[in-house]
Order: sequence, then structure tokens, then C-alpha cells
Amino acid sequence: MINQGNSMDNPAKQSGLKPILIFPAGMPRSLDFLEKCQREGQPVIGSSSLAYDVSKDKYAAWTFLPYITEPDFNDALKLAIVSLGIGGIFSPNPVAWNYLKRELKGINPDVQMVNDSPVNDELSGYRVASARAKKVIDSPLFVASDIASKPLISALEIATIFRHGNVISGMCDDEKISALCEIARFSVAGDVVEIGSWWGKSAFVLARLAHCYQIGKTLCVDPWSSAHLVQNDEGGLVDSGIAQYDCDEALRVFEMNLLPYNANNINYLRMPSTEGATHYVKTKNATTESFGSTDYAGQIAILHIDGNHSYEAAKADVDAWTGFVVSGGWIVIDDYVWPYGDGPKKAGDEYLLQNYHRISSAFVMGTALFMQVV
Ligand SMILES: C[S@@+](CC[C@H](N)C(=O)[O-])C[C@H]1O[C@@H](n2cnc3c(N)ncnc32)[C@H](O)[C@@H]1O
Repeated sequence: MINQGNSMDNPAKQSGLKPILIFPAGMPRSLDFLEKCQREGQPVIGSSSLAYDVSKDKYAAWTFLPYITEPDFNDALKLAIVSLGIGGIFSPNPVAWNYLKRELKGINPDVQMVNDSPVNDELSGYRVASARAKKVIDSPLFVASDIASKPLISALEIATIFRHGNVISGMCDDEKISALCEIARFSVAGDVVEIGSWWGKSAFVLARLAHCYQIGKTLCVDPWSSAHLVQNDEGGLVDSGIAQYDCDEALRVFEMNLLPYNANNINYLRMPSTEGATHYVKTKNATTESFGSTDYAGQIAILHIDGNHSYEAAKADVDAWTGFVVSGGWIVIDDYVWPYGDGPKKAGDEYLLQNYHRISSAFVMGTALFMQVV
């Protein structure tokens, strides 16, 4: 029996796009998909076999369907497709998805499943992470380092870094994660400092590697302030998107991403990098409500510079922090290759030119410049 709730407001009819049926509509993945469709203006119709479904209120349009095990399910779906003009079906339930995939040809050959098998969908991120880890192990990067390499961490540990790292949205791609996995085992002990952390993607990777290779504690320095997001990029493409970000929310996201991994080895300073350097040298401590109080060595083993990319800011980061990097430590300048400007490249090249006698190894991987200090 079709029971179209709120059909007067059916966005399908208003937009002209055919609605997607979400069945069953209350699963977390269904609600994620609903949100995505709402953002993109794709009309949807929620559906389930429950007499009372708590998720019904979230949907502008709703239809009841019997359980797929009921003999009248196929006829009820056939009727719903025609009467509601359904253009496709989304199902995150593996049993329902398999059933629908098989039966849809007979029910209505014009309507397809819009999502891949939920099993593949759920596992694909893990499979990709395992493949990336295998690549790191099978094709190790030849690092011309004077520091003896520590034994590589296991394939499982590396896959974990890719998997959890890629759950966090951010600007650290797999090439960079691979390179960080490599340099970490050629690193001495000391603090791992990141300038510019945003939602915490590269901070997570660094903190995890610092833990696995017993390098030291991780300190993230970021003002999380909209004034500091202005990059003055060529063409203004980056700056034109600033308004959509809420910096307090970004810090909250960073905390949500990093807090589960904190065992008194991760903290942050909410301030610009130059102020952070003064604080670091004076206190060797970061204290925040969320991460507690963390003491640092005061000497840096890995410095990751990924703050504001204007030349002035990138140079200020380099000037303020590179002096703390110990012999055998690494300086990583992100976006050394950057399509929107050359601030990090200019600052990195100047550093190389002035300090070539202090650098034992330097290479570019992905978009970042990696330098090891003598
Ligand atoms: C490209 S994002 C960082 C991306 C991050 N590392 C990741 O993995 O996704 C740049 C960050 O630099 C921060 N930032 C801007 N100016 C800064 C400054 N003076 N000192 C430290 N961080 C700064 C911004 O707030 C922003 O979070």
C-alpha cells in the first residue's frame, strides 16, 4: 500500500529531477545519503517497512513498502515507481541491495540501483589502504640519509595510517603519506611540529608515525582564524572560498579527529606560528582544555610547514621554526609545488640556498619539499 507522506511538498515535482528512493531510509548511510542529496538538490523519497519509522520526519516525501520477504513487495515497489516517478534506488542494506539488484530488471527495467554494493562500498577504503601499504613495503623510497633506518613498521600499521588518515578530510594526499612513512624511519628523536593543521589530517599521520617510530610528541600550531586564511593567491581562487569556513568549527573537527589518538603525546597552540615559536621556546609546553598539558623536548625531529602559503607567511614560518630542528631531523615544506602561487617554493628555495651546508638530503615528492638537516 503506497502511503505518500507530505507529497504536496514533494521536491521531486518542484525540481523536475526524478526522485531517488532511499530504502530502508533510517540507516546511518541512508541519512548520510539523504543529506548529500539535500545539499545537491536531488529529490529523494524515504521508505521503510516499519509501521512507525523515526526517520520519516527527516524526509520531505515518504512511502511505505512491505519487507522484501513479503510476497507483495515487488508489486508494491512497481506501483511506487510508477506513481511517484522514481528514477533510481539507494539501499545501504546488503540483503535489500542484493535483492533489489536482482529483481529490478523484472519490476521496472528503467530503474537502477544508484549505489554500488554496500559490501564493496564499506570495504573499499580498507582495501585501498591495504594496497597503499603494500606499495610502501614493495617499493621503498631510496632515502639518501646518514641516519640508520629503523625497521619498517608492519603492513597493518601502515594500512591503518592510510585508512584512518583518509577518513579525515584534508589536503594530505597518499603520495605525501607514503613519503612521511619513509622519512619517519630515518628520523632521530625529538618533537614533531606541524605549522598549519586545519582539520588534522597530516597531524594524525605525523602523530601516528611519531608514536610508531617512538620519535616524540606532536605539537600542532595553527591560529584557526579566518584572518590567517587569506593567502593572497594568484587569481584569488583560494581566497574566494574562505567565507564558507568556520574556524571554530575547524578546530572542533581537529579535536574530534585527534583526541582518540592522544595519549598525552598530542597537543596544539591556537596562535600564529611566529607567536607559537616564542611560546614553544619559552615553555616547552602546550596546555588545552581538550588535550590537557603536554611537555615537549624543545628540539624538533620533524617540522612540517603547511600554514599560510603567501611568501611572507611561509618565510616567517621557516625563519621562526627551522632553527629548532636537530641534526638528523627533517623539514617538510608542503605545497612547494602549488598551482596557486609560489610562496612555499620561494621560501623553501631560499632556505636551501642559505643552508645547503646544513642539508644532507633533499627531494620533492608529491607536492612537498623534504630536507634532512645535518
Ligand atoms: C593547508 S591548511 C593545512 C592542512 C593540513 N595540514 C592538512 O593536512 O589538511 C593551512 C592551515 O594553515 C593555518 N595557518 C594560516 N596562517 C598560519 C600561521 N601564521 N601559523 C600557523 N598556521 C597558519 C590555517 O589556519 C590552516 O589551518
